[in-house]
Amino acid sequence: MRLSDCHNIDNFRKLAKARLPWPVFDYIDGAADDELTKGRNTSAFDEVDLVPDVLAGVGEIDTSCSIMGRKSALPLMLSPTALQRAFHRDGERAVARAADKFGVWFGISSLATHSIEEIAELTEGPKLFQLYVHKDKGLNANMIERCQQAGFDALALTVDTIVSGKRERCLRSGFTTPPRFTPSALWSYATRPRWTLDYVFGPKFRLPNLDGHVQEGSGKAVSIQDYFNTMLDTGMDWDTAARIRQDWGGTFALKGVMSAADARRAVEIGADAIWISNHGGRQLDGSRAPFDQLREIVDTVGGEIEIILDGGVRRGTHALKSVAAGATAASGGRLYLYALAAAGQEGVERALLILKEEIERGMRLMGVTSVDQLTPDRLRWR
Ligand code: FNR
Ligand code: LAC
Repeated sequence: MRLSDCHNIDNFRKLAKARLPWPVFDYIDGAADDELTKGRNTSAFDEVDLVPDVLAGVGEIDTSCSIMGRKSALPLMLSPTALQRAFHRDGERAVARAADKFGVWFGISSLATHSIEEIAELTEGPKLFQLYVHKDKGLNANMIERCQQAGFDALALTVDTIVSGKRERCLRSGFTTPPRFTPSALWSYATRPRWTLDYVFGPKFRLPNLDGHVQEGSGKAVSIQDYFNTMLDTGMDWDTAARIRQDWGGTFALKGVMSAADARRAVEIGADAIWISNHGGRQLDGSRAPFDQLREIVDTVGGEIEIILDGGVRRGTHALKSVAAGATAASGGRLYLYALAAAGQEGVERALLILKEEIERGMRLMGVTSVDQLTPDRLRWR
């Protein structure tokens, strides 16, 4: 299978699986416990049907919208994800460049393999920094300050990762950051020489946003589970979130809100956006799908705060359904990560092109010429 054979996100997944050693692929593809929530995140979209209008004159259409104060060419964002250098030698740089080219938001993780400063220099496009609140308060303050200096457009505080989900594929594979060559996976590394040579001889794996504070994850190999469970601040609460919002002073989002009551509290602390998200099913398995939870949250805080639907998005129509149900935009991680792993920047660009074309085609077939015409009356719940 080649890149030109990829016509949907699942095709990129297959290519990524062929290219990556299995512990790395399973880190991306895997989720918590029985992975029920991960599956549900996508299948939830099937419970809703689109009702098209015809003869609407759709020669000219506008797919753009405003997200957190910046124009986006599509109602779609690239969610922040960790360790991208482990998936492709260009890591976050490839994703940032592709997002810039397509005029969409992307985010870098606290556990990104390129620095805040380096990414800021790379693109003027809309970009956010995802903050994990560490026990080391100096590190938290340092990351926020660096984002201010570098001119990041928004800060997203992840609130669903107070401890690590039980990711059984990672327990089985022994996946660590940085990746290590474990005996059970040696064959897999040996039979993926392109990845292995890139990893060994390519740019050094680093987590530069933790520099000067944390060795674990870069200088010292640890599992993501151990990293979360030892480094992150389990005492984080609403006061912490309000304080971070204040320290940051710019556009602020909470990533991982799932209940309407918490959405209300997000409004109360002055957040600009919430990401309805269960971390792609990687944290609390059995948690409800973001799309299933969207209406309830829109009914509670719609119009008072921007609502990003994050998780399970694999099709342009999933973004259209999200917007029609009241989200500002849809967002996803694996929708570009498989493509990054498959073919770097070129892969991410192809994934974005496919999703852009699906969104355009879907809008035309729906008989809408702008994103704001996607309204709840265009959906029927089964
Ligand atoms: C993530 N996600 C994530 N979220 C976050 O806030 N900080 C992070 O560092 C990461 N890292 C990460 C790594 C990998 C490999 C994946 C797959 C996901 C979660 C991510 O931002 C997003 O919420 C999910 O990816 C959404 O689900 P889908 O789109 O992958 O189905
Ligand atoms: C994950 C992280 C790092 O989901 O958020 O693996």
